[in-house]
Amino acid sequence: MLGPPGVGKGTQAKMLVQALGLKHIASGELFRRNQTRGTDLGVKAQGYISLGNLVPDEITIAMVLEEVLSEPSKDGFILDGFPRNMVQVESLHQALKDIETNIDCAVLLAVPRDELLKRLTGRRLCTKCQANYHLMSSPPGRSGLCNHCDSPLYQREDDMSIAVNTRLEVYYSETRPIIDYYDSLGCLRQIDGVGAVGEVAYRVSNSC
Ligand code: AP5
Repeated sequence: MLGPPGVGKGTQAKMLVQALGLKHIASGELFRRNQTRGTDLGVKAQGYISLGNLVPDEITIAMVLEEVLSEPSKDGFILDGFPRNMVQVESLHQALKDIETNIDCAVLLAVPRDELLKRLTGRRLCTKCQANYHLMSSPPGRSGLCNHCDSPLYQREDDMSIAVNTRLEVYYSETRPIIDYYDSLGCLRQIDGVGAVGEVAYRVSNSC
């Protein structure tokens, strides 16, 4: 799943994972899980994430490839948030070559910048199960509490204004170039991400 911060990669990936039984490998979620547990990796990543910068490749690539290679799923997997630059692309493709598999489809979601800002600033997550809400488009049943486990919701530190601007800049300068690469392989699918979550999911599932 490719696209700028807040475009809906995680939301769509979770729907595809449920529908198709795939493994979901989300680099941002792996970092946040490590931060919650207070691991060395989580502590190292914290400073980069809170400012909206990419975590260095030597940390990120090892963490994600361990997930990719640890429990190979016979039905495949969805990568969400990785790769984000050409070094990560090359490491991923070398690792996949070693296990004789490949990327079938690169889904690029697009929405206008003002919609991205609304999605990012309105997002809330569950402190316990990480369920994803939006104050306007998908609010919880009871204000500030998760529908699934009643735990309090929180706002990601990097969803606050300065980090949001940096994340968007980093996306356009460092991640956009990998889109041309997937386009050149012929596996890029560009999807309009505006509309209800179900409508976007319909477009995504018909694209691959
Ligand atoms: P990460 O967690 O990957 O953040 P991101 O790519 O910036 O993406 P987001 O999680 O913000 O958004 P999303 O596209 O998944 O949207 P979502 O579905 O949640 O990474 C965080 C940080 O970790 C990075 O900044 C970096 O520091 C580090 N990192 C991660 N990967 C890395 C890598 N490979 N290399 C180096 N560093 C890395 O939706 C957003 C909101 O919109 C939600 O509230 C949702 O409910 C709502 N929404 C979704 N769809 C719709 C819709 N159709 N209509 C209305 N609202 C919608």
